[in-house]
Parts: sequence; structure tokens; C-alpha cells
Amino acid sequence: MAQIIDGKRISQEIKDSLKVQVEELKEQGKSCTLVVIQIGNDPASSVYVANKKKACEYIGINSRSYELPEETTEDELLELIDELNHDSTVHGILCQLPLPKHMNEKKILNRISPQKDVDGFHPENVGHLMIGEFGFVSCTPAGVIELLKASNISIEGKNCVVIGRSNIVGKPMAMLMLRENATVTICHSKTNDLKNICKQADILIVAIGKPKYINEEYIKEGAVVIDVGIHRDANNKLCGDVDFERVEPLCSAITPVPGGVGPMTICMLMKNCIEAMKYFS
Ligand code: GUN
Repeated sequence: MAQIIDGKRISQEIKDSLKVQVEELKEQGKSCTLVVIQIGNDPASSVYVANKKKACEYIGINSRSYELPEETTEDELLELIDELNHDSTVHGILCQLPLPKHMNEKKILNRISPQKDVDGFHPENVGHLMIGEFGFVSCTPAGVIELLKASNISIEGKNCVVIGRSNIVGKPMAMLMLRENATVTICHSKTNDLKNICKQADILIVAIGKPKYINEEYIKEGAVVIDVGIHRDANNKLCGDVDFERVEPLCSAITPVPGGVGPMTICMLMKNCIEAMKYFS
């Protein structure tokens, strides 16, 4: 039987320790503020934004939100970001993605001050990760590292295969595993012989974006499997990129969907906000 990595429990423990940190900072007269900007009313984004506000409230971080209409211009958004960059009461700025099509995502994300970039998307923070310096790290991959550590899964010297090369998950995930001294392979949609490469993995991290794509044919016996995907299957039930029922019997540890990686993302965002306040204000 595989160990089921309980992201819900682990994220709750981290949130509780962050809550204590925020209380201690408040006793020193310091408070922390996150600003979330949402453009338009994409239903999935509205759920994510609501969850972020709820987590802030639980931990004691002040949250301010700007829910702006779809027609907001790029210049108006850039002006708001400039204003928030200069506002010393604001410690973290997050612009919920996806942005409307008329906006240049790169231009918007690059305008957020690297010191307030709690998403870890700014090229300066990405660069810090590459060269092993302090900087904000994208929340989902940072959450995966926390899950592995909290589950006492050693990373050093292990063969780690990451499937997916997005700027938000795959690439930072690979860099973080490298920083933990794993031997890292990055696979993607053009990779030849994906099955055989995955079968070499002691730790397989899947961010492929295809429901239940990874089955037992991709898994080495005793591997640790981390599933970053989230989808709805034909019965409207949540599932990941990994076919849990077929993979679980083979592995030593696996994350479920829901309740694995998902809850860690917001938790890492909260941690980044507190660090922004501690180090940069
Ligand atoms: N949209 C979906 N996930 C994320 C995230 O982690 N950060 C931002 N800014 N937008 C998102």
C-alpha cells in the first residue's frame, strides 16, 4: 500500500504555523497586506481569488482586492500596478491569470515589483531561482517540495523526472529539485519514449495537463508520484494527470487529487506574502 501524501493536512499545519508568525508580527506592530487583482469574471479565477482571500483571513493577512471589468485597458492596469508598487502598506501583489486577450501578460507580470511578486513569476525572481539566490518561488512547485519534505521523502541523489515545461510549474519544479540535489530530467510533449524515461524515475512529478494520462506502464515499482493536474472526468469527478487507481498499487507514495498538491499552492502564497513583509518592508 502506498503512502497517501495528505496535502490537506500538511497545508493546514503550515497555515497554522503561519498564523502564529503573523500574530507575533502583529505584537511587534507589523501587519501584512496582499493585493489581488482580477480582470473580468472568469468563474474559475473567481473561485481561486475567493480561496486566496479566505486563506488570508484565516492566517491574519490583510487582503485587498480589485475586481476590474474585462474592458480595463492595459495602461489602466499598469498604472494600478505602479501605484501599488509604491504603496508601502502593500507587501504582495498578485494579478490573477489568465488575463483578457487584449493584455500582454508578460508586460503586466514584469511590471510588478520583484519584491512584491509573491507569485514568483517576475524574471528577476526566476533568475534568482536559477542561480540559487533568495527570491520568491512559484507557489505550486514550492508546495511540492514542502509536501516531499513533510512526508520524509528524501530527494538528494534521486532520479527525478518532471513532465511539463511551463514557466509556472515544470521549469521552476525542475530547478527546485536540482537545488535539493536530485538528478533531474524534464520531459514534454515532444519527448521520445516518455514511458521508458518515466520508468527510471524514483520521483515522478506530473504536470502534463491531460486527465489520467499516466498509468502503471510509466511507473517504476516503489516510485514516489506527485500529481499536479486537476480536471473533471466524464462523471464530473475531480481527477489528476495520473490514473490514481492504476498507479497507486505500484508506488511507495502518491498524492491524491483533490487533497494533494492543490491545497499547498495557496499556502505557499501566504508564506511568500509574510516573507515579502519581513524582508522588504
Ligand atoms: N491562475 C491560476 N493559477 C494562478 C497562480 O498561481 N497565480 C496567478 N497569478 N494566477 C493564477
